[in-house]
Amino acid sequence: MPMGDNRGPSPLRPPTTFRIESLISPIDREYHPVIHAGRVAVITGAASGIGRAAARELARLGLKVAIADISVEALEALAKELGAAHGETNVLAVPTDVSKLEDVVRLRERVYEAWGEVAVLLNNAAVAKSGDSFEGLDNWKTVMDVNLFGVLNVQHTFVPLMIHQENQSVIINTGSKEGITNPPGNAAYNASKAAVKSFTESLSHELRSRPQAANVTAHLFIPGWTWTGLTAGDANQDNLEEKPAGAWTALESVQFMLDRVRTGDFYILVPDNETRKEVDQLRILWGAGDVVEGRPALSRWHQAYKSVYEEYLRDGLITN
Ligand SMILES: NC(=O)c1ccc[n+]([C@@H]2O[C@H](COP(=O)([O-])OP(=O)(O)OC[C@H]3O[C@@H](n4cnc5c(N)ncnc54)[C@H](O)[C@@H]3O)[C@@H](O)[C@H]2O)c1
Repeated sequence: MPMGDNRGPSPLRPPTTFRIESLISPIDREYHPVIHAGRVAVITGAASGIGRAAARELARLGLKVAIADISVEALEALAKELGAAHGETNVLAVPTDVSKLEDVVRLRERVYEAWGEVAVLLNNAAVAKSGDSFEGLDNWKTVMDVNLFGVLNVQHTFVPLMIHQENQSVIINTGSKEGITNPPGNAAYNASKAAVKSFTESLSHELRSRPQAANVTAHLFIPGWTWTGLTAGDANQDNLEEKPAGAWTALESVQFMLDRVRTGDFYILVPDNETRKEVDQLRILWGAGDVVEGRPALSRWHQAYKSVYEEYLRDGLITN
């Protein structure tokens, strides 16, 4: 027996073997029934960054793509590019503000009118306006309207139809590590992404609990640091020479995500060139440990816990 198997359980590192692998059988890339040529993808926030890379990648794989974004000019430019590369009849551009339910309903009508189904729903549009704990209430409202209600609007508008389709389909909500570990910096964005994690978990449970919804699975896409409109600031997200070494390209994050959707993962925790999986895992467990151990909130950034946290991380990485 290997040495590692003799280690006793640690309260900060509970066993992670509860996943029931047999429920989802991994399917070969080429034969995946959902991410498959001829099927239909709907992508919100498609005019930039991760959404745009997903639209390009899914179109390259032969899916018909409906692209939606509030930024009309950039959306039209992408529609033109994809139409030229993959055929205009395989691309549908629908200017959409996801925070407006009527826009989202129109998007759904356009997609079902054109193609009669949705296989991949990438619920991805978001903004990162900053809102502190007692400042920036207007920004809080905007962030919640787009990142929370925008994602819910799409989920509530599309899923009731998707569950009645004969073919399998997936809904992928884009969350964030910020919604799990809650780092200081943008309380509004963190709270909006924590909400996305919470209601996507509920969605996943409800879908698998209802026999009539068994054909739809939900997934939480948790990108790492990705070079996009959101993170590039004044730099140009399209110029990869300007990309910081630590960030992944949008295409790298999208390809990683699609592979995990293919294997049926719910939590799709994406690494980047700065943060590997084991570091993310230890950070997430430390955050949960604040609650269980009764430490101060966000102790990872608390001066009194600095050295304890660093030691925990060092030790955790040695055993990984
Ligand atoms: N880039 C990262 O490092 C990173 C990390 C974690 C999570 N994310 C998440 O990934 C997703 C994609 O972000 P990105 O980094 O590609 O950013 P991005 O700014 O490049 O793209 C976001 C797109 O959403 C659109 N959008 C904004 N408000 C909208 C609205 N009301 N209706 C419709 N479209 C709207 C924007 O016009 C833009 O095209 C977001 O959910 C973001 O929170 C990004």
